[in-house]
Amino acid sequence: MEIGSEFWIDKNKVIHESDLLPSWLSRFGDVVLTSSGRGALGLLLNQLKPKNNKALLPSYICESVIHSFIIAGYELIYYDIDKYLIPIDIEFIKNSDVGIFFHMGYFGFLTNDILADIILCLKAESVITIEDVTHVLFSKYNKQTESDFVVGSIRKWFGIPSGGFLASDKIMRYELLDVNVEFINMRRSSLHQKFEYMKSRNESIKDTFLSGFNRAEHMLDEDIKPYKIDHESEMIIKNLDYIELQSNRQRNYKFLLKHLRDVDGIEVIFNDLKSDVTPMFFPIYVKSKRDELRRKLIESEIYCPVHWPIPKHVNGQLNITTENVYDSILSIPCDQRYQIEDMSRIINEIVSFFEE
Ligand SMILES: Cc1ncc(COP(=O)(O)O)c(C=O)c1O
Repeated sequence: MEIGSEFWIDKNKVIHESDLLPSWLSRFGDVVLTSSGRGALGLLLNQLKPKNNKALLPSYICESVIHSFIIAGYELIYYDIDKYLIPIDIEFIKNSDVGIFFHMGYFGFLTNDILADIILCLKAESVITIEDVTHVLFSKYNKQTESDFVVGSIRKWFGIPSGGFLASDKIMRYELLDVNVEFINMRRSSLHQKFEYMKSRNESIKDTFLSGFNRAEHMLDEDIKPYKIDHESEMIIKNLDYIELQSNRQRNYKFLLKHLRDVDGIEVIFNDLKSDVTPMFFPIYVKSKRDELRRKLIESEIYCPVHWPIPKHVNGQLNITTENVYDSILSIPCDQRYQIEDMSRIINEIVSFFEE
């Protein structure tokens, strides 16, 4: 069975109508559901009136986030992270004269909690602070974020046609465009076809859903306007068994950690999994031949994404540590779809690659 890559939607699963926003979302304040993380960020950026048009972002970041800021007309400055993805340059962050400060944790780990005091200082200087919680959506916080706004992409965690959100305690009026039907239909049919494929192993439908997913991503790259979430996605979110999602991911992560932490050739980034962390992936550094390992895993139908390719905009401005992160990181799937046997298969493939 293939491991990784896009989620699917089980058409037979009963979804109940519900008005209740789950606690994993409502904890962030008043929530506006959008079709994507980009849509949520764009919606916010279009309404803000920061004291100047400079924004400070981590230099380890996804291209689509940078793109949203550029489209909204911001000048971008970056701060670095260390190899554990923890922000460094705290003095630089504190003294930078920006209108917006943007930060995030990675892969489920609250690597940005070191910023709590700085966020308060920046707010005192009238800097608008935004936390992207995409990667920590299901992790527990001891203390709720102090940031003015929270954005996130929900669709990275389970099978839904669309899903992002913006949240805040500040009262604001947000103008959302109606559901983007073409995008939703493309995603929904691909998610259903993938479900069929996972059941039947009928290879003839694989190209169809893969090209459907690609076309939908392309549509999103081209058009980041803030659309409403579709009804089906909203109901899947409201029906989600998030306890199962959290515990399966914890179980899978721990198993990978036990068997991969001492493998020569790789380095595990997060060597400890506290019970409040829900991992997004199991990220590792591959000391050399990352792309070769990735290709070998693909041959065994194990699809590991790279978070992220170096965004064009930061290329040439990175310190050596951050450049190494981009060049050697690999994300191993450990999500709720998989059992321990699936994790064993991944471990065996990685171990045998380094023994060859
Ligand atoms: C941290 C982070 N935030 C936001 C986004 C954008 O989310 P979406 O693809 O739903 O627009 C991404 C995309 O990969 C991301 O990695």
